[in-house]
Amino acid sequence: MPEEKQSIHLRPMIERDLPAAFGLSQQARWPHRLEDWQQAWALGAGVVAVANGETVGTALRWLWGENRATLGLVIVDERYRGQGIARAMVQTLVAPLADYQLHLVATEQGKPLYRQLGFIEQGRLEQHQCRELPAREAEPSPEGVTLRPASPRDLSTLAELDFAACGMRRQPLLETLLSSAGQALVLERRGIVVGFAMRRRFGHGNMIGPVVAPELASAVALIDALCRPCTGQFVRVDTPQANSLGPWLVARGLPRVDTPAIMVRGTPHRPDPGAVQTFALVSQALS
Ligand SMILES: CC(C)(COP(=O)(O)OP(=O)(O)OC[C@H]1O[C@@H](n2cnc3c(N)ncnc32)[C@H](O)[C@@H]1OP(=O)(O)O)[C@@H](O)C(=O)NCCC(=O)NCCS
Repeated sequence: MPEEKQSIHLRPMIERDLPAAFGLSQQARWPHRLEDWQQAWALGAGVVAVANGETVGTALRWLWGENRATLGLVIVDERYRGQGIARAMVQTLVAPLADYQLHLVATEQGKPLYRQLGFIEQGRLEQHQCRELPAREAEPSPEGVTLRPASPRDLSTLAELDFAACGMRRQPLLETLLSSAGQALVLERRGIVVGFAMRRRFGHGNMIGPVVAPELASAVALIDALCRPCTGQFVRVDTPQANSLGPWLVARGLPRVDTPAIMVRGTPHRPDPGAVQTFALVSQALS
């Protein structure tokens, strides 16, 4: 309605907006808990759209180093869609980031907007999950590889591996995740840390991610070890399709439930061939 449109304005997101933001993600049937919003907001910055005193839209961005950023949690209240609110929020966030490489994971509904703003699809993400993880025999670890719990002393190594895999400087994110993870593992080869993985509470239960590893067999060893304590529980893994982890996840009892688009504006990061890769994201918003 035109009179509603006139009274809508944007402003920076503040902590008091989080319960309303949580309400919007519930309306969109997204699994985020209030704690997940809290963590995402604390690591980045956002804008909200306000109509007649009510928060009716959210969009957030996270800066990871000098010229990399991710965008996410873009939601508009069903009653206010189709009025340009999402476009205005995202434009507000990206306006100061003209030189940045921007990365996001887009739903089908979000894709047209991001295409308009210059984002290009760079492949698919596979969301795998199950309500009750079945029990399975443990996978044998690849030759010469050992797993051990990650400790805060590993943080800078994890940040370097993460940077090699995704091109983003995300030490503050990894520090937050490491301190709140249910389980975090590093993978060593000849005493050198060459991969890592974490399991934490997110959404409906356990989220496994990030997972950074030199190849598929090592990623499988890490994820299988993190799955073992979760028999009978909700487990989710979001993996880039290009990394071919999907078939193993399905065989492990984690069917694919969605394949949103990975979209990038700017030159995409290309990890060195033979270097570590990201086998599971932190989350779709944080990538
Ligand atoms: C995606 C979403 C945020 C769009 O919000 P919105 O405020 O309605 O979007 P806008 O009005 O700013 O529209 C921007 C563009 O998106 C496209 N778009 C929006 N709604 C559309 C629809 N129902 N069908 C097709 N295209 C649509 C159009 O290209 C539109 O541009 P145009 O008006 O010039 O044609 C909203 O639908 C939503 O909250 N969906 C659920 C959560 C979600 O999927 N978020 C995206 C995460 S990546």
